Amino acid sequence: MNASFDFSGRTLLLTGAAGGIGRCIAELFHRSGANLVLGDRDEAALETLAEDMDGARIAMLAGDAADPDDAQRLVDLAVSRFGGIDYLIPGAGVYPAQPFAQMSDDEWRRTLAVNLDGVFYICRRAQPHLRPGGALVFLTSLAPHRGALTNAHYAAAKGAVGALMRSLTRELAPDIRCNAIAPGIIDTPMIGDFKKTRSDETLKLTPLARLGLPEEVASVAAFLASDAASFVSGETIQVNGGLYMVA
Ligand SMILES: NC(=O)c1ccc[n+]([C@@H]2O[C@H](COP(=O)([O-])OP(=O)(O)OC[C@H]3O[C@@H](n4cnc5c(N)ncnc54)[C@H](O)[C@@H]3O)[C@@H](O)[C@H]2O)c1
Repeated sequence: MNASFDFSGRTLLLTGAAGGIGRCIAELFHRSGANLVLGDRDEAALETLAEDMDGARIAMLAGDAADPDDAQRLVDLAVSRFGGIDYLIPGAGVYPAQPFAQMSDDEWRRTLAVNLDGVFYICRRAQPHLRPGGALVFLTSLAPHRGALTNAHYAAAKGAVGALMRSLTRELAPDIRCNAIAPGIIDTPMIGDFKKTRSDETLKLTPLARLGLPEEVASVAAFLASDAASFVSGETIQVNGGLYMVA
């Protein structure tokens, strides 16, 4: 994919940076001139990612998105290295498959801790350092729109992130725009279990008849952050090959 943007002199803070979608977002923004502040719990994968892009304009820190102190450390790093934050994409997420009838309180809490509390922690701590003209891009999901099978906690968390996005759209305006991407089924490590069990059935329903690629989410994230989307705020873009429309 040849999407091109100009983020020269701008700084992106991205969590979940070592994941399938995160890595593509990091590469696209870096190629487009941005400084990167990357967070993920997987330190080795973060280091590999930074090596692949040559270390210039990159700061990174391993940590747990569900830990408010780690969120603060990541924001402090962005401020000390690059003086502030232009774009924030809280992408860290987990997608455990658990039928509701067997879901424990701990499984519920952990899924919300990463996918919802973690988004709050990083947004709240980044907020004083967001530069005017900046943008937040949230990664929600098709799950809260369609209802999830075996992922009720995930769908609940992602639905709440959509609500948080709409509230921040109002509270951070007019200096900062907020939008979300609701990916459908994107071919990354996150959907390993899903591919084994339910992928065929989903592909039959999907008009574009294939899984999405992480690059196809990254390009929409870059569009939403860029000046090309300068009058887009409070929006959720579905990236799912048409599955939402027909399912
Ligand atoms: N792949 C899909 O089909 C899909 C669909 C809808 C939404 N999403 C969302 O997109 C985002 C990226 O997903 P992906 O497909 O790249 O998944 P992925 O599993 O490839 O990447 C997720 C990344 O988040 C990191 N992470 C997980 N828990 C963490 C924690 N507690 N602290 C710090 N880092 C943590 C992982 O180490 C990993 O690098 C997630 O928020 C996910 O929910 C993905």
